[in-house]
Amino acid sequence: MNVASAENFWQNLPKPFLILAPMEGVTDVVFRQVVAKAGRPDVFFTEFTNVSSFASEKGKHDALERLDIAGLSSRVCSETLKTDNSSNSNTPRKNLESPIVAQIWGKNPEHFGETAAALSELGFSGLDINMGCPDKHVNKAGGGAALIKTPELAVECIAKAREKTSLPISVKTRLGFTYVEEYKTWLPLLFRQNLAALTVHLRTRKEMSKVPAHYKLIPEIVKIRDDISPNTKLIINGDIMDKNQALELSLKYPGVDGFMIGRGVFQNPYCFTSHKPSREELTELFLYHLDLFDLRAEELSERGSRYPYEPLKHFIKIYFSGFDGSKELRAKMMECKTTRELREVIR
Ligand SMILES: Cc1cc2nc3c(=O)[nH]c(=O)nc-3n(C[C@H](O)[C@H](O)[C@H](O)COP(=O)(O)O)c2cc1C
Repeated sequence: MNVASAENFWQNLPKPFLILAPMEGVTDVVFRQVVAKAGRPDVFFTEFTNVSSFASEKGKHDALERLDIAGLSSRVCSETLKTDNSSNSNTPRKNLESPIVAQIWGKNPEHFGETAAALSELGFSGLDINMGCPDKHVNKAGGGAALIKTPELAVECIAKAREKTSLPISVKTRLGFTYVEEYKTWLPLLFRQNLAALTVHLRTRKEMSKVPAHYKLIPEIVKIRDDISPNTKLIINGDIMDKNQALELSLKYPGVDGFMIGRGVFQNPYCFTSHKPSREELTELFLYHLDLFDLRAEELSERGSRYPYEPLKHFIKIYFSGFDGSKELRAKMMECKTTRELREVIR
């Protein structure tokens, strides 16, 4: 797809724009709605989905469930409409988590094509190919950051996906697999693919998240983009905790179009705003999270699936930390087995 085409939402974003990073096991449809309520980013990403699973009958069901943006979103939207008196009810509401980009990973170009074709029908605003995941299993399967070591295959995956969809295609990657200097050949290759956007997590696969992000390389990366593909939006990722930090980076590096925040939401779910939430606000937000959890569990159970309770416990720390007695409160909550019990502890 031509990066300047009218369907390319990336071209219509403010500068700088902020993105909620894709995080497996975290940024599912429920948590994305929670972040949207606290303070929405300009763009959402789904967790990543494997293209070869998507291409198999068995895996397709699970993949579609992971990529489900319609059901819960529209229910939450209609609830919001009911309670939001300030809104003009004649104005059609946009999906709460729009624009939303589906992230996919794998190494089989044909499967990238099939998945891209199928996702075009599901209401996504764009498609992102993961070329940065450091997970051992993902890399062993040839996907994520392993594609940095097989650049021809990476190019083919992009080309096959693009052949089958008119959605704008972006890539999220790292500086290199083993050495930082790899960016000097890897990033130009990606910019030559006429991508709508490229997110660079400023570390190598080998560095995982153990060293600080290499911000000092930003000017050189901006220059590579400007020389090769000035229409491709450049997004920087790594150690950016909130909107204020992103704005500071934007002043320092005006060539960057957008900033992606991942773990910052664990410190403050309001990180896409400059607002410092009170304890009461965080408790309210957690109760909202629980309501959405119940809605999603109900929705999936109607379809014969399950929305497991245990992972919900990982989120408790986000809402209840850093005050006297928070540790004891969390310990009590960890013993709960239902959302009802959690609500009782809060009361
Ligand atoms: C729990 C967790 C899950 C992640 N899952 C994904 C994923 O599915 N796709 C992806 O591209 N990156 C994934 N990442 C990486 C983040 O998107 C981001 O690149 C990384 O956390 C660095 O940004 P940060 O310093 O703002 O957190 C994940 C990170 C974490 C902590």
